[in-house]
Amino acid sequence: MKEIRIGMIGYSFMGKAHSFGYKNVGMFYDLKVKPVMKVICGRKLEGVKAAAERYGWEEYETDWRKVIERDDIDLIDICTPGHLHAEMAIAAAEAGKHVFCEKPLANSLEDAKRMLEAVQKAGVKHMVGFNYRTVPAIALAKRLIEEGRLGEIYHFRGVYLQDWIVDPDFPLVWRLDAKIAGTGPLGDLAAHTIDIAHYLIGEIEEVVAQEKTFIKERPALVEKVKGTGLVEVEADKSRKVPVTVEDATMFLARFKNGALGVFEASRMCPGRKNFNGFEINGSKGSIAFNFEDMNILWFFSRDDEGHIQGFRRILVTEPEHKYFNVWWPAGHIIGYGETFVNEIYNLLDAIAEDRMPEPSFEDGVKCQKVLEAVVKSVKERRWVRLDEL
Ligand SMILES: NC(=O)c1ccc[n+]([C@@H]2O[C@H](COP(=O)([O-])OP(=O)(O)OC[C@H]3O[C@@H](n4cnc5c(N)ncnc54)[C@H](O)[C@@H]3O)[C@@H](O)[C@H]2O)c1
Repeated sequence: MKEIRIGMIGYSFMGKAHSFGYKNVGMFYDLKVKPVMKVICGRKLEGVKAAAERYGWEEYETDWRKVIERDDIDLIDICTPGHLHAEMAIAAAEAGKHVFCEKPLANSLEDAKRMLEAVQKAGVKHMVGFNYRTVPAIALAKRLIEEGRLGEIYHFRGVYLQDWIVDPDFPLVWRLDAKIAGTGPLGDLAAHTIDIAHYLIGEIEEVVAQEKTFIKERPALVEKVKGTGLVEVEADKSRKVPVTVEDATMFLARFKNGALGVFEASRMCPGRKNFNGFEINGSKGSIAFNFEDMNILWFFSRDDEGHIQGFRRILVTEPEHKYFNVWWPAGHIIGYGETFVNEIYNLLDAIAEDRMPEPSFEDGVKCQKVLEAVVKSVKERRWVRLDEL
């Protein structure tokens, strides 16, 4: 079987998630190419070495350029913060490698477009890490919409809520630094919701937004590498540094097909851990989803007779549910890690069949355009049309 030799940059949260995908994909899916976990890269020698051993990579490296230059690598997988995506993806494309890049595609629309141009010019395959598309319940939501069960779509209401920075003494990690992250929960969380909306409803035409940074300065960060290869963060309370991204963002949107959208992303919601949820209302019915209960899709149909109408709770674990057929017997639910196995199958299968994987950098650029419009709307305090950008 043809091998796809992978070089992955970044070994922490997403590095571990993608490694989980490469390691397990062949156990569940029938593959047409064989993934080879060739080399993993990170800045800290001690950490990347531990990660290589633990996750099952053949080699480790601390200089990402050396990984891209290697002749024995076919696919570069980028799991680093956003400010590095463009430089790494463009270098990988120029070296003729396929590129899988985590979301958001970049920290600016200009960079995202340059990345798309580079992969198109090089004629390589490209994919962006919107893994939530591979949640079986979200795939079912798409099927129900395509089957016309919701009728004309009126509303998309999407929230992505977390609580990990509510404590004002939580240190200034890279996600709170605009130079590295670009934006706060907008690019980190709402990017996923925007992609889900694009996937399920269609494209957004215009937005109006507001945002707020509630905690304006935080203790400086001290980073330590644990034996697991993961980085442990500690706060240096003697030193405060400014927070340069928003803590919460929200926007209204109008979709090209006439639907109205409401989006909210915040890390200041005590009790909400990874509350990535949406509700869609149409002329014939509604659906609702929340990732904290990811195997469930709620569906209300006006076609049901009046006396039995009500939201039905669909446990999305049947063999006829997309993605679930390779997993366990019905009712034996899946979790977060499995979305990466599904996502990496989509990537490898597209490479094997010489087609473009989905979501591609084109989807990444579409999402980036909305992010940029939201930023512009906040700055200029007005509705921003996407075709202005
Ligand atoms: N799809 C998802 O659900 C999801 C979830 C979390 C993060 N993300 C995205 O994944 C990306 C990474 O986020 P994360 O949470 O894994 O971050 P992280 O802080 O856990 O890991 C970042 C990794 O990048 C490496 N790195 C940083 N600078 C580097 C350099 N110059 N050279 C080589 N390696 C370098 C670090 O060593 C570290 O291993 C971001 O774009 C983020 O938005 C996606």
